[in-house]
Amino acid sequence: MCYSDLSEQIKAATLEVHERAENTQLMICFQKGQITRTQYKVLLCSLYEIYTSLEEAMDRNSSHPAVAPIYFPQELDRTEALERDLEVFLGPQWRSRLIVPAATHRYAQRLRQIGKERPELLVAHAYTRYLGDLSGGQVLGKLAQKAMRLDSADGLSFFSFPGVSSANRFKQLYRSRMNSIELSAQQRTDVLREAVDAFHFNIQVFDDLQKMLTMTSASEEKPKERAERVTSLMSPVQLTLGLCVGLLTVGIGLYNY
Ligand code: HEM
Repeated sequence: MCYSDLSEQIKAATLEVHERAENTQLMICFQKGQITRTQYKVLLCSLYEIYTSLEEAMDRNSSHPAVAPIYFPQELDRTEALERDLEVFLGPQWRSRLIVPAATHRYAQRLRQIGKERPELLVAHAYTRYLGDLSGGQVLGKLAQKAMRLDSADGLSFFSFPGVSSANRFKQLYRSRMNSIELSAQQRTDVLREAVDAFHFNIQVFDDLQKMLTMTSASEEKPKERAERVTSLMSPVQLTLGLCVGLLTVGIGLYNY
């Protein structure tokens, strides 16, 4: 291994932004074992949009030289696991109950775009999500089970990788495959930048989810209390925008979650 290995460079490039991701409110709730069912449900919805876009892009480019070495659909794909979890938490009609914030749409849009135009950047996104899921993600699954007092692992398929017997060994293999991808100097720079962006997309999704939930819990307050609290915090423009978003959020039925 040498410092010019892509796996080492990408880890170094995303070290700081990883820390920021860990310190988002949603991730802090996870780490403190305080994740609620509502938080988990909206997170699953966003993860579903993200992974369907990522995995479609990977499938479409599976024989591309910058994708083939890191294409492990059997071991890593999350789409089906998320479908099972969504059915557990949202019921058989889950497809019509998916709610995702704007940040999730932007992230998915970027994944679809690079799937079509810049497949060599997919490694940045696959690394960010899958190596994350195989690292801190493993602990988060256990914390979620405890926090939501779930008796079984039903609804937690997302965290389980039956095709990976040792996460550490698999991560080693994955890193060596990443390092075997041939990239020009410019492409490598672009991959590193895209990995930082991938973390930013995740942070924005977590922040948007948290905002969406804060709005809903604010709308559960008595109307007078809410009006007083909101007007004291917002300018007229923010207030109008906030009210529109609030009404929309309530309108799409987050209440029922
Ligand atoms: C509660 C939040 C999180 C915790 C506690 C956490 C913790 C960890 C830990 C302990 C590792 C292993 C480090 C190592 O083996 O050297 C790791 C690796 C990683 N995490 Fe996280 N993480 C969190 C959130 C995230 C998020 C939100 C993402 C991205 C969306 C992410 C992406 C990654 C990646 C890509 C790696 C692999 C680093 C590498 O070996 O190159 N993590 N994380």
